[in-house]
Amino acid sequence: MKRMTRVALITSGGDCQGLNAAIRGVAKALYEHIDNIEIFGMYDGYRGLIEGDYKYMEPKDFSGILTEGGTILGTSRQKYIPGKDIVDDAGNSLIPAMLDTYNRLNLDCLVIMGGNGTQKSAKLIMDAGMNVVTLPKTIDNDIYGTDTTFGFQSAVDIATNVIDYIHSTASSHGRIFVVELMGRDAGWLTLNAGIASGADVILIPEIPYDLNKVAAVIEARKKKGRSFSIVACAEGAVAADEAVLDEETKRHNRENSLYPTVSYAIAAKLEELTGQETRVTVPGHYQRGGPPCPYDRVLATQFGAAAAELIELHQYGRMVAIQNGQIVSVPLDDAASRTKFLPVDHPMIKVARDIGISFGD
Ligand code: F6P
Repeated sequence: MKRMTRVALITSGGDCQGLNAAIRGVAKALYEHIDNIEIFGMYDGYRGLIEGDYKYMEPKDFSGILTEGGTILGTSRQKYIPGKDIVDDAGNSLIPAMLDTYNRLNLDCLVIMGGNGTQKSAKLIMDAGMNVVTLPKTIDNDIYGTDTTFGFQSAVDIATNVIDYIHSTASSHGRIFVVELMGRDAGWLTLNAGIASGADVILIPEIPYDLNKVAAVIEARKKKGRSFSIVACAEGAVAADEAVLDEETKRHNRENSLYPTVSYAIAAKLEELTGQETRVTVPGHYQRGGPPCPYDRVLATQFGAAAAELIELHQYGRMVAIQNGQIVSVPLDDAASRTKFLPVDHPMIKVARDIGISFGD
């Protein structure tokens, strides 16, 4: 009889739409293609692997979850020392405990679904001798080696919808609205939602802004009879005079800011510069919640099936990805090596500029 193949599934880091679709995709394809397969689900991301807290999964566990938001396995974040270790609060390495669980369960592979931080941790886990296959998920779309991550499109849909709704109230009151969107230090989500919703100004981390220029755009709109303006602002957006400071000073300024987030500081300054009533909307984690959009259901399923195929072929240490519409896989070494920021010469930025959207630069 063929030897048992034992795989454990892990969802780690911030959640996003499509995680359950991906879990289901991996499991269904494994059951379909590999005889004698056993699947385990680690609870709450790497915590489950560290503490040996897991569930033996059965086919019925993967039914009815395609459209569900969140993750049936739970998730968590771990303390990561860049390129070196995953540690507890006292600084002790947690990798030996992970290896212990891996060996006790006699696993053949860990299937790890996560964002940037998770991919980097997965590389450390791989380097410690565990077989891993990873899937790129995040609403930030900032994982190197893949054109798109699942979760991203669903978040774009939600963020677009938020700005669509803000448009009508902004128009009624003749106000400026600054809508702050997630994305960490990358502007993918804000750029896409900003274009899709017809924002007048898009502020992203990759293009530092000057609020005098943003105010001039708003004044010019007023002169043309447009009583309101919408600023789509990434949570990581940075002013040009801040961008040149060293990291330490930036952190100090952030921690001592009068405002809870960047969009509040921008709104206050725009109100001062334009004399126009200005409001802030921060949809926050709403952007990560609810069911995945159809595109993400398909992408997560494709990634899941591709991960199962890698396991069938014993091709470990790889992240599944999509490049030019094709499902591929890339070495985890590469995927974990850097962050995929929005290139400032990206065609979408050109399109936005072509139709008159300002980036405040
Ligand atoms: O990486 C996904 C993300 O939602 C970012 O866009 C955001 O900056 C961060 O996670 C929020 O993290 P948390 O859920 O821990 O507040």
